[in-house]
Amino acid sequence: MRSWDSVEAFETFLDGGGIVEVDDRMPDVFRDAVFAFIEMHANSELMGGLTERDWIPRSPGVKNKMAILAKTQDEVGHAHLLYMVAADLGIKTRTEMMEDLFAGKSKFHNVFHYQAVTWADQVAIAYLVDSAALMSQQAVFKNCSYGPYKRMLKRIIAEEGFHMRFGEERLLKIAEGTEIQRDMFQGALDRWWLPALQLFGPDTRDGDVLLRWHIKSERNEVLRDRWVQKYVPLLTSYGFVIPDDHLRHDEATGRWEIGEIDWAPLKAALANAGPDSARRIGNASKNWHDTAWVRAALDEAAA
Ligand SMILES: [Fe+2]
Ligand SMILES: [Fe+2]
Repeated sequence: MRSWDSVEAFETFLDGGGIVEVDDRMPDVFRDAVFAFIEMHANSELMGGLTERDWIPRSPGVKNKMAILAKTQDEVGHAHLLYMVAADLGIKTRTEMMEDLFAGKSKFHNVFHYQAVTWADQVAIAYLVDSAALMSQQAVFKNCSYGPYKRMLKRIIAEEGFHMRFGEERLLKIAEGTEIQRDMFQGALDRWWLPALQLFGPDTRDGDVLLRWHIKSERNEVLRDRWVQKYVPLLTSYGFVIPDDHLRHDEATGRWEIGEIDWAPLKAALANAGPDSARRIGNASKNWHDTAWVRAALDEAAA
């Protein structure tokens, strides 16, 4: 167990590439910040897994069903791993975190406050949302100063890569499909472009502790821009239209410049007041209560 005399000494350790482990005497401010970040990530994986689950019976064909089944299992698995890492920080137990989530008291990523309406939405989610999540997670993994989280991210990132590839494969199929299929994807793109873009969050504030303490390694706007520069040309080359009237290609710099972002939807989602927040939290909460007997039976058997 290591300890530091002051926050300054701790920061010097972090700046030197130091990795903090769960039994280290880390400053409380660091523990709280890391915990909040991992709890939100865990909640997001769980809420994402629940959306995937909704699509197991609705996916077209057995191959897609198997893929969505596997994706559901992956996302719920990610949540399990992350709740374990978060609980080890000793701030809340796993049950407390889940109870807070289902009571609408904690946060999860904006994209899981929207409803997937058609199969094309599922494809858009895998292609756009999983890729955005992967890009953010890779940036955290690169330089993450909290050891247990960094090790879990390695496993999670490997699986998120599959999700993105699944989305890419399905998207190519739709892009080469009928007009009806292409229209369906365009509709999904219109619904999911902005939420996916906002997954990176607003521009990072100067003095952000997550950056200072090497939990994050890149600013939100840098990651968002990297994603835009990658996905705008891909989507437009498949003949889809990005729902942004002010989007333009700057010939001089070779960059894609997007219009101003309206952050109101992000704020609403993070306050659990997004378009589908109430239904999603309500369903998850009902399921949690309906399955209380399973947990009680397991506890009894273990005792
Ligand atoms: Fe995941
Ligand atoms: Fe995923």
